[in-house]
Amino acid sequence: MADTPMVAQYKRIKAQHMDKILFFRLGDFYEMFFEDAEIAARELEITLTGRDAGKGKRMPMCGVPYHAADSYIARLLEKGYKVAICEQVEDPKTSTGLVKREVTRIVTPGTFLDPQVLEAKKNNYLAAVAQYGTSLGMAIIDAGTGDFKVTGFNGPGQVEALRSEMLRLQPAECLYPQDDTELQQLIKELQQFFPVLPSPRREGEFSLPTSLTLLERELASVNLPEGEEFQAGACAAGAILFYLRETQKVDPIHIKGLEAYRVSDYMVIDGTSRRNLELTRSLRGDKTRATLLGVLDYTFTAMGGRTLRQWVEQPLLNKERIEERLEAVEDFVADSALRTSLPDSLKDIYDLERLMGKVVYQTATARDLLALKRSLALLPAIKEALAGVQASRLAALREALDPCTDLWQLLEDALNEDPPAGLREGNLIKTGYHQEVDRLRTMAQKGRKWLAELEVRERERTGIKNLKIGYNKVFGYYLEVTKSNLDAVPQDYIRKQTLVNAERFITPELKEWEAEITGAQDRCIELEYQLFLELRQRVAGEIERVQRVAKIIGEIDSLLSLALAAIKNRYNKPVLTTDNRIIIQGGRHPVVEQMLTDTPFVPNDTLLDSQNQFLLITGPNMAGKSTYIRQVALIVLMAQMGSFVPAKAAEIGVVDRIFTRVGAADDLASGQSTFMVEMNEVGNILRNATGNSLVILDEIGRGTSTYDGLAIARAVAEYILEKLGAKTLFATHYHELTTLANDYQQVKNYTIAVEEQGKDIIFLRKIIPGASDRSYGVHVARLARLPEAVIRRAEEILTLLEGDQDTAEEIASSGPEPVQLDLFSFQEREVLAAIQNLDPLNMTPLEALQVLVVLQSLLKGE
Ligand SMILES: Nc1ncnc2c1ncn2[C@@H]1O[C@H](COP(=O)(O)OP(=O)(O)OP(=O)(O)O)[C@@H](O)[C@H]1O
Ligand SMILES: [Mg+2]
Repeated sequence: MADTPMVAQYKRIKAQHMDKILFFRLGDFYEMFFEDAEIAARELEITLTGRDAGKGKRMPMCGVPYHAADSYIARLLEKGYKVAICEQVEDPKTSTGLVKREVTRIVTPGTFLDPQVLEAKKNNYLAAVAQYGTSLGMAIIDAGTGDFKVTGFNGPGQVEALRSEMLRLQPAECLYPQDDTELQQLIKELQQFFPVLPSPRREGEFSLPTSLTLLERELASVNLPEGEEFQAGACAAGAILFYLRETQKVDPIHIKGLEAYRVSDYMVIDGTSRRNLELTRSLRGDKTRATLLGVLDYTFTAMGGRTLRQWVEQPLLNKERIEERLEAVEDFVADSALRTSLPDSLKDIYDLERLMGKVVYQTATARDLLALKRSLALLPAIKEALAGVQASRLAALREALDPCTDLWQLLEDALNEDPPAGLREGNLIKTGYHQEVDRLRTMAQKGRKWLAELEVRERERTGIKNLKIGYNKVFGYYLEVTKSNLDAVPQDYIRKQTLVNAERFITPELKEWEAEITGAQDRCIELEYQLFLELRQRVAGEIERVQRVAKIIGEIDSLLSLALAAIKNRYNKPVLTTDNRIIIQGGRHPVVEQMLTDTPFVPNDTLLDSQNQFLLITGPNMAGKSTYIRQVALIVLMAQMGSFVPAKAAEIGVVDRIFTRVGAADDLASGQSTFMVEMNEVGNILRNATGNSLVILDEIGRGTSTYDGLAIARAVAEYILEKLGAKTLFATHYHELTTLANDYQQVKNYTIAVEEQGKDIIFLRKIIPGASDRSYGVHVARLARLPEAVIRRAEEILTLLEGDQDTAEEIASSGPEPVQLDLFSFQEREVLAAIQNLDPLNMTPLEALQVLVVLQSLLKGE
């Protein structure tokens, strides 16, 4: 059976977009058919209907109104689909037969641009990964803002580094060569941490020569550093350009350049550490307020929000650049007038970058351009407000800020102040901008005036008081007379329509004027549409200027945000050095201090230098060990992003990397045991930390038996002390580790003070030199309201254990597992010696595991 012509057209187009949902334009709707309709009906919860497919066959169908399509598209993208938009590319009124249709745009999670739906203060990234030679490359673009970056990785740990970088950027979609199973696997793994759509692409789109040609052709300047890793990066970047061209169908002219960077240009923070430190997401749930970013974010603009997020995620290494930011923040802190006047302008600035993205992709409406105009109008005031700033960075930003007065003037002259949402309804262009528009409008106006006069005239002539003139789409203008007055209708009225209570008439004269009016209106609408397209094209030509402005606004807003946070939270300016020391007076945890409601946060000091390189912190459960060691990491990180810090004073020697290994968190999703995850992470630290790194270890070794855990913890500590020299804070319940201080003079023992009051303990939260010999775990168990019977029994066992060894053994032999241990039996010494002689850097993970199995059986005495 033959399909109808339209169904045949549909099938022909759909065949080229099998991996997408096809939005097929039919009049005012996008319709979906067949399988697409079934998917869309289910995912969007819209009604599935049917349509005649020719010869009595029916096909499933559902549709969404075209003007509301974006929110439906967004929902499909969120669920991991791509959408192809198929438009009518000729006017149905003038075409004969079937209207021509074409796919004009493909929307994918990484190329979605609607500022209404996207999270404003977060980039929406499209990534690509590629291999070249022995290197890995990655490129990333925010198609809305035009930010385009490339990097590469080489050597051992390159996969790890790529993974970290992807975890940082969290792209919505990632392109990879379809046959590369390794990269495919990597993206799959990443899906466990954030939603990313894998987009397999043809191998050829990643080839180096093709990519380089494409980059040269599309971008103003391509300046890639030497090295195979950047060749791999170029392959990825080329694939992105290819993909953008294919999906957006217009030149991606708003991509000004490709910025090459190395991850080592910034402080390196691996994915685990980012999570542990809760930089942009909290460990439990997604409450962003309970994160470092949440505490620092007082930005007013979308650009500022995105910039600040980047700063939090990429702290700097260069002391001068850090100081530039600090100085700027200090200026804002000192100038309260500036601090209050700037927000007035900033808060009304729209998302310039994404507006310009829409302009370039030709989806911007008159309302978008109006938003652009209103934003540009605020620039002179901002420049003016910054007139008196001292800080060199702020002065430079002020100088560079282009007030774009000419562009504002153009939009001010051309654009109507209250344009409709659509482009085909007229009212886009301001009176006085274009003679012909003005003339057509006057004509239409004259016509409408004539109509009004006609109404009055005809009422008089016929004596029908309630005669009125109306309009509808089918009959055009008409004269309406109610039933009761029908006898008064004159001869020359021609009846057109009968309603329940009235009849509608026309006259030849009325029709003549109608032709005048609608003719003028139609021509005006068409002309306004053309003028608008011209205007949008001219604005697109100003892309580079507006983008520079957006970047500057983003930076000013971010610096101001840091100042506002500093004042609100009582932060102070840190001093940056390069002498590898960290001295903090009265430091606080920026997030925990916000969360405490009824108790004040107790500040603590920190000293890390060559004599105090390794701080071992023991102390009762709940005392504040984890909080303390994280607070040091966060203060260092904040200082290096250019923020004031929660401390009375701080002197921070710039660190190159921050590592954290925290608690035992199960990672069932990736099919790894708790302990395996922990060992992987520790392995990563030992392979990558340097003498300039800061290492935060919280209870490593906890995920296995006490003997194993203690052995590994001690071996790790010794390795850090002897081989790495990294500044380390190590919180542990293994009191046995405090003997490290006897063997290494740079190890210092600290504990967190508590006061015992009978059976209760009071947490003083003060860090003091020394070691704690008790965990007070039972106290905490009581606080947590464990059954009283359990607590009493635990206390009994504890007393016996602490009291005399024989009883302890008695209990142990009858109980499941010994609780307290002698330090280092014969086997353990053997194990320790074995670990000491290992060379983890030259072992595969599998070898390491095998060794671990042997060590464990040694400890078990097998
Ligand atoms: N300096 C401080 N001032 C006030 N309250 C604090 C301070 N440090 C920690 N706290 C509070 O104590 C709680 C427990 O702290 P933390 O988790 O750091 O203890 P811990 O010693 O690591 O415990 P555990 O041994 O069980 O891991 C925190 O959630 C916080 O509410
Ligand atoms: Mg803890």
